Amino acid sequence: MHPASAASPSHAPAYDRMAVALHWIVALALVGQVLLGWYVHEIPRGTPARGWWINLHKSTGLLLGLLVLFRLGWRLRQGAPARVTGLPAWQRYAAGASHALLYACMLALPLTGYLASNFSRHGIKFFNTALLPPWGADDKAVYAALNGAHVALTWVLVALVALHVLAALTHLVRRDGVFARMVPAAG
Ligand code: HEM
Ligand code: HEM
Repeated sequence: MHPASAASPSHAPAYDRMAVALHWIVALALVGQVLLGWYVHEIPRGTPARGWWINLHKSTGLLLGLLVLFRLGWRLRQGAPARVTGLPAWQRYAAGASHALLYACMLALPLTGYLASNFSRHGIKFFNTALLPPWGADDKAVYAALNGAHVALTWVLVALVALHVLAALTHLVRRDGVFARMVPAAG
């Protein structure tokens, strides 16, 4: 049987095990990455500690970007299980749109961070060991624009995740089978 169509205990088609594992690993890693970004924000500029923590943030952010690419590749290859029947049309559209926006945000964040870092003479010191030399000019205006987009996107992500979690919890309360698609133990 195609893994994406495996029946959950409630007999609704559920996400396959790899999709569920990737969802929860990426969700945890994203929360850690945002907290790390906010922590770096609090460290005074020009101190050695800031350089160390920002390079850690850049390195884990790049790895997370690769993991998101893998997750998206898996999703495009496997597809999503058929929707739970009986959901109102607006919920089906809202789910499709918000999931697409979440993926877009998860890709745009590491991309803007990576691009910004290449328009600064600091580049990326991968896990504070190997320098990935910047391929762009040391251009403060370009850096500020890309960095501004990076910071703005963090708030878009936070808002989308808040909505997503609220929606997931309403499905949990209603026990309509949607929650169990991503939390097989709740089936
Ligand atoms: C999914 C991946 C990522 C997330 C969720 C993320 C999130 C964040 C957050 C929350 C901040 C703090 C924003 C603020 O000051 O309010 C931040 C700052 C920053 N991030 Fe990321 N980031 C990611 C990936 C990356 C990558 C891959 C790089 C570079 C290679 C990067 C470079 C930076 C830099 C340079 C700052 C400092 C901005 C500043 O304070 O001027 N980030 N990031
Ligand atoms: C950073 C946090 C999170 C992100 C970025 C995220 C992202 C996503 C994405 C992109 C999907 C669509 C999967 C696909 O079709 O490929 C999804 C589905 C889902 N997520 Fe999350 N998620 C997060 C946290 C959570 C949390 C905390 C919960 C539960 C409280 C949750 C519950 C669900 C459920 C139930 C589905 C399946 C929805 C459906 O069947 O249509 N997620 N999530």
